Amino acid sequence: MVILILHVKGVTKQIGGLLAVNGIDLTVGKDEIVGLVGPNGAGKTTLLNIISGITHPTAGKVTFCGEDITGLKADRICKKGIAKTFQIAESFPNLSAKECVMVGAIFGNSHMPGMKEAQQQAVEILNYVGLPPEKVDTSNRNLNVVELKWVQLARALATNPKLLLLDELTTGLNPKESSEAVNLMKKIRDEGTSILIIEHVMSVIMGVSDRIVVLDHGEKIAEGRPYEVVNNQQVIDTYLGDMDVF
Ligand SMILES: Nc1ncnc2c1ncn2[C@@H]1O[C@H](COP(=O)(O)OP(=O)(O)O)[C@@H](O)[C@H]1O
Ligand SMILES: [Mg+2]
Repeated sequence: MVILILHVKGVTKQIGGLLAVNGIDLTVGKDEIVGLVGPNGAGKTTLLNIISGITHPTAGKVTFCGEDITGLKADRICKKGIAKTFQIAESFPNLSAKECVMVGAIFGNSHMPGMKEAQQQAVEILNYVGLPPEKVDTSNRNLNVVELKWVQLARALATNPKLLLLDELTTGLNPKESSEAVNLMKKIRDEGTSILIIEHVMSVIMGVSDRIVVLDHGEKIAEGRPYEVVNNQQVIDTYLGDMDVF
């Protein structure tokens, strides 16, 4: 039996006259990787922002590890074990990669480590995600977009999440980097962190997801195993179209 760690029920976000997210039900099980796909403007980022507490739903409920976390602030939710990366890889420009990850280790954990411990953890995690060792003390401002993505991922991992929310982490990576990212995500999952990932690169989503949920205009239009979803006629019509799936 799958143990659920995340249960989103009837979640809605009304922004002015727009239903950015409309009555979404979604679950993530322990040790599961769930892919979230859909056209631009479908509501994917808004949904991840609701789960992580960056924004609050206008209706519905978010339960994490059996606890109602709807409407809690982002820092509280992070300490409970949900970490997120952002679609745009922005970071503190004047901090080094290591310092940026230390921020996650120090402020994102329920148990606050000391400076030395945080520093050691940061170097280990940056190494784990594959940032070249000579870049650990480089200012974020001097890192390229791909390196910034690794720093963001490392910062999220430094908070010791049970659930990792990844918003287009692999967008902009070349095929070799994407395939390394797929292996890394599987490794992270195998070590006990569930993942909910938004991604447009279908080879990544197909390669990494145990299950895929498809959104369109704020609503869930399909859900299932990767091969079921890519063969779903409504998904083909509204999203995949003439996309090169494989
Ligand atoms: N803060 C906001 N103010 C106004 N409209 C927003 C805001 N955030 C999201 N939206 C709108 O909500 C819809 C869903 O956006 P988003 O969640 O970013 O979609 P996706 O990530 O799937 O591309 C879009 O129509 C977007 O323009
Ligand atoms: Mg988005």
